[in-house]
Amino acid sequence: MPVSEPLGIALIGCGTVGGGVARLLREQSERLAVRAGRSLVLRRVVVRDPAKPRPIELPRELVTTDLQSVLRDPHIHVGVELVGGVDWAKQAVLSLLAAGKDVVTANKALLAQYGALVFDTARKHGRAVAFEASVAGGVPIIAALAQCLAANQIQSLQGILNGTCNFILTRMTESGQSYADALAEAQRLGYAEADPTLDVDGTDAAHKLAILVQIAFGLSVPVESIDRRGIANLDALDIRFARELGYTIKLLAETWLSGDKLALHVSPVLLRQLAPLAMIRGAYNAIHIVGDAVGDVLFAGQGAGQMPTASAVVADIIDLAVGRAQRTFATLKLWSSRRNCFQLQPASMVRSRFYLRLFVEDRPGVLAEVSRVLANHAISIASVIQHEAPENHEGGRVPLVIMTHTALTGDFRMAVAELDRLGCVAPPSVYYPVGD
Ligand code: NAP
Ligand code: HSE
Repeated sequence: MPVSEPLGIALIGCGTVGGGVARLLREQSERLAVRAGRSLVLRRVVVRDPAKPRPIELPRELVTTDLQSVLRDPHIHVGVELVGGVDWAKQAVLSLLAAGKDVVTANKALLAQYGALVFDTARKHGRAVAFEASVAGGVPIIAALAQCLAANQIQSLQGILNGTCNFILTRMTESGQSYADALAEAQRLGYAEADPTLDVDGTDAAHKLAILVQIAFGLSVPVESIDRRGIANLDALDIRFARELGYTIKLLAETWLSGDKLALHVSPVLLRQLAPLAMIRGAYNAIHIVGDAVGDVLFAGQGAGQMPTASAVVADIIDLAVGRAQRTFATLKLWSSRRNCFQLQPASMVRSRFYLRLFVEDRPGVLAEVSRVLANHAISIASVIQHEAPENHEGGRVPLVIMTHTALTGDFRMAVAELDRLGCVAPPSVYYPVGD
């Protein structure tokens, strides 16, 4: 393709994110042409239902259900996959690459599960895949890790990577909104996945963590092997107890090196209220990275939603138009069979402090029984809260909150399982790591 030829683009999917990309391409064409060194022309928009109203008015002849028309068109150079899900999207991406198109995608589920297949196919056909929007929406974390921090061995990465969860937690914490109402609002605002279970059960954050681990450590981590818990069962009671203790609960995706082992998990974590990540509100994402040369770096910004995500997608399109993305893709060798020197640390071997909340009988000897179980598993108590029960509270159970000193996760989980078998405890007990 001569450099002066316009870059032909097909959008595959034109919902929340695709609508934002179409808006930028059509309403900011002059600005984008200057940045890209040539025109970016939207030539086709593939959707499921052409009759559906779109966030931006599109010429009727652009909209189709026929992916083949994109594959056949020699004037389309880039396919932008914004469909979501894995099966149909995977076939679409592989077909685009086989047809000689470069691909931009925001699909973290696809990359986390089929990154090797997608990247091998791209290499086989001499094409490139750009995926800035797949992690942290508008925050340029892929470019930062892959390029700007390339001189470093990353030591640790701690991220708020799901905007929906952070939005829900912020609403529950700051305005006492119910979990269900906050989730419904996140869906209405376009933050949530088509299937929001992926957001709230921690899977979406695990997908993003797997992508970041691939870039930072060259390690392909099966998503199933990431120890993960979401916020779907988070109780407002624990948000209140955390606040009383001086903490905020955030859904974190974390990975860190200890020796040649890499620990990683997704979990609600108690953070000190003044910790930088504790102050990230709403649908914002943030990533705290420690590199051996740079030290600490913090990235933050809008992690979900139409225009922030479209911003990242269009930046990838510009990088392809300029030729930068092709070079980066070829150099990074992501999801290739290159050797790496790290092994995963089993979750049971990770050391942490813990917040533990039990419902216990309010009678003599209960605290002694609970502390004996913890002591038997080498878990030391740092502090305890049990509020006085109301006057007329008879025979009921009361919340007992324990903060522990550092313990092995495996020991701690065994202790909780044993506590839940005590007659004085109403299972299931709730626990979260403490992030300090
Ligand atoms: P969305 O609003 O549900 O839009 C999906 C689009 O794909 C719709 O236009 C839909 O067509 C089209 N589509 C679905 N199945 C199709 C099929 N079989 N054939 C043709 N078209 C099909 O999704 P979204 O929120 O924009 O998300 C798109 C991708 O971006 C996902 O991978 C998501 O994880 C990722 N992402 C989203 C955000 C966000 O904030 N929303 C942020 C970062 C990344 P119809 O409109 O005709 O139904
Ligand atoms: N559903 C995702 C989130 C979209 O809420 O973070 C951004 O990837």
